Amino acid sequence: MWAVVVEEHGGPEVLQLKEIANLEPSRGEIRVKVHASALNRADIAQRKGKFPPPTPSKYEILGLEFAGVVDKLGAEVSNWHLGDRVFGLVSAGAYAEQVLIHEQMLMPIPPNLTFEQAAAIPEVFFTAYDALIDKADFQAGDTVLVHAGASGVGTAAIQLALVMGASMVLTTGRSDWKLEKCRALGANRAINTTAEEFDQVVIDATASKGVDIILDTIGADYLEKNLNAAAVSGKIVQIATLSGATPQINLQKLLSKLLRLQGTSLRNRSIEQKMTLTQKFSKQILPFFVDGRLKPLIDRSFKLKDVIEAHSYMENNSNFGKIVLSIASVE
Ligand SMILES: NC(=O)c1ccc[n+]([C@@H]2O[C@H](COP(=O)([O-])OP(=O)(O)OC[C@H]3O[C@@H](n4cnc5c(N)ncnc54)[C@H](OP(=O)(O)O)[C@@H]3O)[C@@H](O)[C@H]2O)c1
Repeated sequence: MWAVVVEEHGGPEVLQLKEIANLEPSRGEIRVKVHASALNRADIAQRKGKFPPPTPSKYEILGLEFAGVVDKLGAEVSNWHLGDRVFGLVSAGAYAEQVLIHEQMLMPIPPNLTFEQAAAIPEVFFTAYDALIDKADFQAGDTVLVHAGASGVGTAAIQLALVMGASMVLTTGRSDWKLEKCRALGANRAINTTAEEFDQVVIDATASKGVDIILDTIGADYLEKNLNAAAVSGKIVQIATLSGATPQINLQKLLSKLLRLQGTSLRNRSIEQKMTLTQKFSKQILPFFVDGRLKPLIDRSFKLKDVIEAHSYMENNSNFGKIVLSIASVE
């Protein structure tokens, strides 16, 4: 099979399309013939050598999510059949024509979605679901601030908060064209952080109360303002640290406002935790994709052979929503 392999870490040019041996499923595993994968920032960090895969393998293949068809069943697989349209999350290896995955970590592709649309769902919607529902204990009527609303995670989190019944969703970004699209997605207030202080806008928009939940992928630059923008007993979920991980802040507000600051990371969890998350997501959230209330948002699709261009596109912050890789053919 063909796969995108990293043999030395560095810029997008280190990505190589290479022909390697086919994969063989073990007990309880399924081999999926991949039709589409999608990019995540974690892939860029891994390519640079800053986010190693949890389990080393012969070839370092990037890719956290895929959609395709069941191609081969390992022993004792009971719930799937050859040819089933499936998608899911893996800890590495999805920029390839084949992936292996435990049967309990697979989901059926809703009939109304293409392979490319399905591949754009797992990482960002699992992350948004985990942060909003599991970590922040979201309740209908809560107010939510989603940072970097135009990012893959941001577009998922805005939609999810609205579908789950948020009373107000505010979001941030650094360019007007992206913020306009966030408004079209349903965000009640989209704040350009190059022109406005987001904490002040939040305070004004919430009658000085602040927001109940903040989902933050930015980190150091935003933490102090997050403490200002959070309501008393508010919850801040740290999903990433795109601006840095070592803020200089006064922690007093964390104490006096009774705030909760919690980190999250999907990739390093145990397989059992990932199975539980997949099953919960399938039951609670997948139906929203079937009835169209949630939509995977694809910015652009690249062929697998154009993966270098796709990585440069993401690193330039050019995307609104997801960047997809089409793997139906490597040509
Ligand atoms: N914890 C987890 O389990 C988990 C899971 C998934 C993703 N993540 C992380 O979440 C982050 C977002 O991922 P993604 O795939 O959604 O990213 P993405 O689609 O590439 O979007 C990231 C966006 O963030 C904004 N941004 C980048 N650097 C910034 C900075 N220094 N200050 C302010 N804004 C900045 C840019 O948008 P603007 O041009 O609009 O500013 C950029 O387009 C990544 O760091 C990723 O690794 C974590």
